[in-house]
Amino acid sequence: MKKILGCLGGETLFPFRYELAPPDLPPVEELTPRLRDAFSRRWLSNFGPYVCEFEEKLAELFQVSAVATVCNATLGLMIALEAAGSRGEVIVPSYTFPATAQAVLWTGRRPVLADIDPEQLTLSADSVRQALTKDTCAIMPMHCFGMAADMENLTAVAESAGLPLICDATHAVGTVYQDRPLPGSGNIDVVSFHATKILSIGEGGAIIGNDKSMVEEARARSNYGFDSKHRGKINAFGLNAKLAELPAIIGLSQIERLKEMLEKRKEWAQAYRKRLSGAPGLKFFMPRKGCEPNNQFFPLELASEEFGISPEVLAWSLERENVVSRSYFCPPLHQQPSFLEQNIPQQSGGLSATEHACKTTLCLPMQPDRPIAEAERIAECILRIHEKASEVNEAYYGLPNDNT
Ligand SMILES: Cc1ncc(COP(=O)(O)O)c(C=O)c1O
Repeated sequence: MKKILGCLGGETLFPFRYELAPPDLPPVEELTPRLRDAFSRRWLSNFGPYVCEFEEKLAELFQVSAVATVCNATLGLMIALEAAGSRGEVIVPSYTFPATAQAVLWTGRRPVLADIDPEQLTLSADSVRQALTKDTCAIMPMHCFGMAADMENLTAVAESAGLPLICDATHAVGTVYQDRPLPGSGNIDVVSFHATKILSIGEGGAIIGNDKSMVEEARARSNYGFDSKHRGKINAFGLNAKLAELPAIIGLSQIERLKEMLEKRKEWAQAYRKRLSGAPGLKFFMPRKGCEPNNQFFPLELASEEFGISPEVLAWSLERENVVSRSYFCPPLHQQPSFLEQNIPQQSGGLSATEHACKTTLCLPMQPDRPIAEAERIAECILRIHEKASEVNEAYYGLPNDNT
């Protein structure tokens, strides 16, 4: 018998809340030997042995010469901007998490919001060209949902303008691009180990690159600007953004599991694709040539008229199945009250691809440490919602606004 949808009075698909991106964690027993060791040393911060080991392993993973861990990527982006030097305007996508532009603002620089490539949802090189001014001091692409930004063209624009590319690579751990890890392809990049990210340690991040002196300067800034060789001397404007030992211990286990976690994510993404392909009005994002994405998120593009259901109604229907989905970055930064209040400039000519992505994109749950049959059930349920579109729309639009 076919399922009666939750939004039409049936039972929910799951008896528990099916979250969007909970962390895929190692068995706790795996952590205990290192935790015991850290406790017996009584060394919990200030570049302890596990932070140093984590940094070495990250340098191998990203194939870069320098890594400075931080307690979150937002502070990492701020410090990377300071280490990269010049001040002025930083071109960032409007289709991103607020941290990308907020980091710019916190350093006293000015974000300029640019548009995205509609196919990969990443900063458009053409839009960057239009946004360049004499005051531009850096370009900050974001590898959205784990898909590579247009690094060839963005690098060409940056090089011809003499500007650094500071990549928000927070979504990109595990993505391969042109046969090498994607994080580390800018002049200085920042990855995140937040609880929603693949290499999850709760809160954390790293500034990475091949310019050793820039990354070393970033490390000093993450420790109040103290000179690493002359105790007590402050050479640079800093703050406290150090990673602690205990999250670094989780990170070491996560690196050991990364390959396996990426494999399982790939299988989950394939399961969604297999079940959902061919549904009218439903499109998958294809990474650009040479990019093997990490499947950090699973975004869908919905053409509401063809699919019969808008992303908003689909998210609402899934919620009534206990399934969490999300239209990330909506509203986009150029429509956010705080950014409007601060008169944050945007590329002239409008940000139409950004606005389109906000209206049409929805991310589905990724819980690759759970049975793949659950991804299949979610996909089946989406097809059922499509099948019952007119009743679902009636149920949604018949509701008072505060229930939507
Ligand atoms: C695109 C983007 N940039 C920056 C960040 C900030 O990362 P963190 O939470 O590690 O500070 C996030 C966090 O989700 C993000 O999605």
